[in-house]
Amino acid sequence: MTALGDLLGPPLLCPAIIPFTATIAVPYSLFRIMHQFTCLPPLALYIHFPWCVRKCPYCDFNSHEIRGELAERAYIDALIADLEQELPRIWGRTVNSLFMGGGTPSLFSADGIDRLLSALRARLTFAANIEITLEANPGTVEQYRFAEFHAAGVNRLSIGVQSFQNALLEQLGRIHDGKQAIRSAEAAHKAGFDNFNLDLMFALPGQNKQTATDDLHTAISLSPSHISYYQLTIEPNTLFHKHPPVLPNDELAWAMQCEGQSQLTTAGYNQYEISAYAQTDRQCRHNLNYWQFGDYLGIGAGAHDKITDMAQQTITRSWKIKHPDTYLAKATTKHRIAGSRILSEDDTTLEFMLNTLRLTNGFNNDLFQQHTGLKLSSIEQALQTAESNGWLIRDNEYIQPTEQGQQFHNDLVTLFLPT
Ligand SMILES: C[S@@+](CC[C@H](N)C(=O)[O-])C[C@H]1O[C@@H](n2cnc3c(N)ncnc32)[C@H](O)[C@@H]1O
Ligand code: SF4
Repeated sequence: MTALGDLLGPPLLCPAIIPFTATIAVPYSLFRIMHQFTCLPPLALYIHFPWCVRKCPYCDFNSHEIRGELAERAYIDALIADLEQELPRIWGRTVNSLFMGGGTPSLFSADGIDRLLSALRARLTFAANIEITLEANPGTVEQYRFAEFHAAGVNRLSIGVQSFQNALLEQLGRIHDGKQAIRSAEAAHKAGFDNFNLDLMFALPGQNKQTATDDLHTAISLSPSHISYYQLTIEPNTLFHKHPPVLPNDELAWAMQCEGQSQLTTAGYNQYEISAYAQTDRQCRHNLNYWQFGDYLGIGAGAHDKITDMAQQTITRSWKIKHPDTYLAKATTKHRIAGSRILSEDDTTLEFMLNTLRLTNGFNNDLFQQHTGLKLSSIEQALQTAESNGWLIRDNEYIQPTEQGQQFHNDLVTLFLPT
């Protein structure tokens, strides 16, 4: 059983690489599994790129500073070998979105990404309108490289701007400055990307309300289709955890969040998740699939996945070896897998709530039944408590978190822990 603390830690930035606690394997037969799937959830593919130019002091993602030459060819071969061994788990299914995340995938050459995408297309069925996102750091890309990524088939970028203020960027240990951040968004437009995201963080060391507002103002002026606005969190095993910087207090951080919400909404970016804002029809389909508890296959060092098996009536989570060197050495063998577990009924309910209650629109009855294989009546008691606490509202179809429910997301989800 996964401890709630492990699930409720950081903001759910990228569930495919959130470290779930490795649990003691419990024989399948010991669970009272009552899933009854009548159809499979949609499927996404996550590919992890574990290297960065420099490790940022706040980052707890599976990212490692490059030492020496980037093992590009070997890593792409490893990804293809990893995928080939996973194919039986997803036979016949269509991939609706693909996300290349990191780390810094934009360190890889366009030729490398092209070779990878060609290998994927030859082995998988891509939906005709598949969303293919690549994460890029300003400071590692120029316009011609964006154009080459676009030609290779990437149709969405996610650019890690964080801030446009040089003093803040320095505090965050970033390798780029404000001008480079602006240039990368301009380059994305010029390279033909009409769909790209800018990542910004707030409640940064030394930040005030005005600089937070200025950052959003600059981001909006660059017309991305999507903006992710994350509150900086201090994670264990980071340099910031060891040497904590002075952060804005809770009151100021809350004021920045509220101000940001209204600034973004006024500019036409609608909030659809705690940290995600998009222009009409420009939500990130890949992340939406995580938040709707869809299925995803994970390839690469430290990648996680969640796959529903109709024949077995199970949901399995698996994760790959984290360290890039060890992953490279084991990619062609079953030892690339660091662990896996079948979700119990209780885990399934909790994880569904943890994800869907991050969404402004919450979920409906059909989504619950289709993606968990369970009946909504199994959580009726907890739903009623959440409603009476003012954390949820319900009509005949939808179950939505209220503003208070979103603010107290952890408390809300705790109601769905097994009693
Ligand atoms: C997986 S990271 C990788 C993106 C890319 N490598 C970069 O940093 O430019 C995705 C985003 O998560 C956010 N992030 C990472 N660590 C965070 C933290 N401790 N608190 C809040 N947001 C964080 C940043 O906005 C970052 O752009
Ligand atoms: S560039 Fe991104 S992934 Fe790499 S260390 Fe910094 S925040 Fe983490």
